[in-house]
Amino acid sequence: MNGSDSADYARTLLMVLGPVAERPLALPAPDDSLLSDDHTPVEYSLAFVPNEDPTLRVLLEPGCGADSLAENGRTGLRVVRDMARRWGFDTKRLDELEDLFFPPNPQGPLALWCALELVPGGIPRMKVYLNPAASGQERSAATVREALRRLGHRKAFTALPEGDRHLFFALDLGDWEEPRVKVYLAHHNLSAPEAAGLSRVDGGPGRTEITGFFRMAAGHDTGIEGTDGHEVRLDRRPVQSCHAFTETATGRPSGFTLYIPVRDYARHDGEALDRAVAVLGRHGIDPGPLRRSLSAVTSRRLRDGVGLIAYLGLAHQQGRPPRVTAYISSEAYAVRPPVAAPARQVETVH
Ligand code: TRP
Repeated sequence: MNGSDSADYARTLLMVLGPVAERPLALPAPDDSLLSDDHTPVEYSLAFVPNEDPTLRVLLEPGCGADSLAENGRTGLRVVRDMARRWGFDTKRLDELEDLFFPPNPQGPLALWCALELVPGGIPRMKVYLNPAASGQERSAATVREALRRLGHRKAFTALPEGDRHLFFALDLGDWEEPRVKVYLAHHNLSAPEAAGLSRVDGGPGRTEITGFFRMAAGHDTGIEGTDGHEVRLDRRPVQSCHAFTETATGRPSGFTLYIPVRDYARHDGEALDRAVAVLGRHGIDPGPLRRSLSAVTSRRLRDGVGLIAYLGLAHQQGRPPRVTAYISSEAYAVRPPVAAPARQVETVH
């Protein structure tokens, strides 16, 4: 992206964040936003495929600092619609879901997040993240099912794997070749072989690709594929899966992504970066831009904290090469201290 794109995008981010962007960082975080661990309402990420520049994305909470979740959601909707108008996107698919995700007394951990893919040209591609638990955690499955149905994905819900909780319902808005509807699930205590069984995409990722990614990202990589009688489970922050739906004819998802919360299974960010580099290397991707992006965000030493790299993701979309994604925290308010002793990060089940 050129200098004028980056100036445009800097202005765009200020616009999305509104008054919160002007708030001195010496003050406490505006609210307890769950977008990031230290409550900064901004998280960066890079999406990598071999032999191309990575795509820079940013996740934002436009309603951060609102007095209530309802107000947070109204601000989020207004900002998304303002941006859509500015860039000539239509928000019909979001409008059709408004009553489901923005009830008068919303519940749950968020109201609306939006992510922008900062592609060259100054007009980002937009993604909107909604809260399936808005009408109550116990209604979240029904909310997701109804949202999919309204968007024409009548058979999609039954195609999804089992999970512990619906986390997000996301929509692509704007100039996408194939706009996706995405459903995110949490998976507690997941093992690599179980992760390999989650994808419902026809001809989706192979088992060894998923187990290899899982073990590398989690730091369980022994160099040996397959299990040796032990199953290592991620028993802290849950792994997340995401299924993406792009067409309504087959009822099948066309995309599957697995997210490993590397920050909860590493002692410090030096270790997290090593794992990211190993994952990128396995996919034939140059780690240079990731290293540079970390020093653009912070001047601290990587071993002096953990959480700068929040998640590592592996995304498969039919007809495209696999993408590796790395989520980079802002750490505007706090750095999580590193783990002093070797992390007791594994639970061994015989
Ligand atoms: N901070 C939240 C979490 O850790 C949400 C989130 C932010 C997230 N970035 C993400 C979830 C990337 C998955 C992948 O769950």
